[in-house]
Amino acid sequence: MSIDKTLEYARANQDHFVDDLKGLVKIPSVSFPGFDAGKVEESASAVAGLLRSRGLENVEILKLEGAHPYVYGDWLHAPNAPTLLLYAHHDVQPAGREELWKSPPFQATERDGRLYGRGAADDKAGVVVHTSAISSYLKTAGSLPVNVKVIIEGEEECGSDHLEEFLSKYKAKMQADIMVLTDTGNYDIGVPSITTALRGLVALDVAVKSADHPLHSGMWGGPLVDPVQALAKMIASVTDKNGRLAVPGLWDKVRKLTKVEETSLKSLRYTVKDFRKQSGVLPKTKVIGNKDLLRSMWYKPTFSVNAIQASSRKDCANIINESAWCHMGIRIVQNMDPKATLAALKKHLLKNAPWGVSVEFSGESTNPAWTTVPESAVFQAASRALAKGFGTKDAVFMGCGGSIPFVGPFSKVLGGAPALLIGVEDPYTNPHSENESVHLGDFAKSIMSAVHLYKELAEISRN
Ligand code: BES
Ligand code: MN
Repeated sequence: MSIDKTLEYARANQDHFVDDLKGLVKIPSVSFPGFDAGKVEESASAVAGLLRSRGLENVEILKLEGAHPYVYGDWLHAPNAPTLLLYAHHDVQPAGREELWKSPPFQATERDGRLYGRGAADDKAGVVVHTSAISSYLKTAGSLPVNVKVIIEGEEECGSDHLEEFLSKYKAKMQADIMVLTDTGNYDIGVPSITTALRGLVALDVAVKSADHPLHSGMWGGPLVDPVQALAKMIASVTDKNGRLAVPGLWDKVRKLTKVEETSLKSLRYTVKDFRKQSGVLPKTKVIGNKDLLRSMWYKPTFSVNAIQASSRKDCANIINESAWCHMGIRIVQNMDPKATLAALKKHLLKNAPWGVSVEFSGESTNPAWTTVPESAVFQAASRALAKGFGTKDAVFMGCGGSIPFVGPFSKVLGGAPALLIGVEDPYTNPHSENESVHLGDFAKSIMSAVHLYKELAEISRN
């Protein structure tokens, strides 16, 4: 079957696809606690509407007690062809500091070939890549070369807490041969990439307390313990002077890379200059682990403190605070057990808590790392599809330092079904930060690639 007409339709309808994306970005579907969960519901309805209008059938909003809604839709009229489970998520991170946005976060705005807005890339672009490729087929050929089940999650950004429950309830409905996840990034703009490794994440809140109310720092300073300093010392104990994780036992499990991974790391030739340019780190600020940056971003564990609080800039007074709080996390790699890592971190923090302060842990979450060996025909087919969609020689296989809790458990439930992680983000996307954006050229190419992908996957299953 020729897909020329389908590709032509996709090309001609780019503006409409971008409009679909703008429509989704308008809804502030922040899944974090403390934000309006009604907006995530509204976003689920909008996604369901989009799936329906692009030709998907059996569209349904899937709810679980206490969870943000998933959205499902399918098209299952390709007998003897494989079934793809197409994944994206419709929830987003909070906007952050609104005043730092150059255009309003929930009003998608085009500038210099990019579309800016919270979720414009992560991951509403993923939703629209799937619906656009599907609709391009249905509008031209009237059918797809494969069966598709589209699943759009509503709580990815807050840790996918109901994943297990979801899986046990909808296991049968989710059955598929191949997973395609559109929630990762490309190695660079215009360089199509397949992600073969994700780090996991172990995170928690730490609250340190020393008194039942703040006290005048002049009156009481001296004998009185400062919980901010106590927390600072505890945080400092997690890494050594080079910023490397220093919690005993954690490095023991970190595996050596395979030959294929080593070769691929080398072939990418990533430099400190690339890192500085992409991240915007200040010129005099050191880059840790100079020679091997991709390795440390993709294949090594790392520690970060995401927020810290005691009093505030506005209320800053000459006091010794009664408490201090932070949220911290360790990105873990393959073979590191999430629960054991959390236990080791907590034990280390308690051991390094000075002066008998009270330490409380809460909001704990544990997500494992994931890796795959991209050797089967499915990965070759995906590489061909991406090369065609992007007009390149081939696709790059890469790692990713971020996490997607959905992948591991789902691939397992699908009996080890291959998972293709193909996304539209790039090093300048700024996900989770202010001024998030998607590159519109790459967004268009991703849709073309998805059109090619369905055909390529149908063909390998016939052979
Ligand atoms: N889309 C990201 C994952 C990602 C990060 C892909 C970086 C490519 C580059 C995803 O939405 C995400 O941010 N996930 C969370 C998961 C966490 C809450 C368990 C993350 O990694 O922080
Ligand atoms: Mn995402």
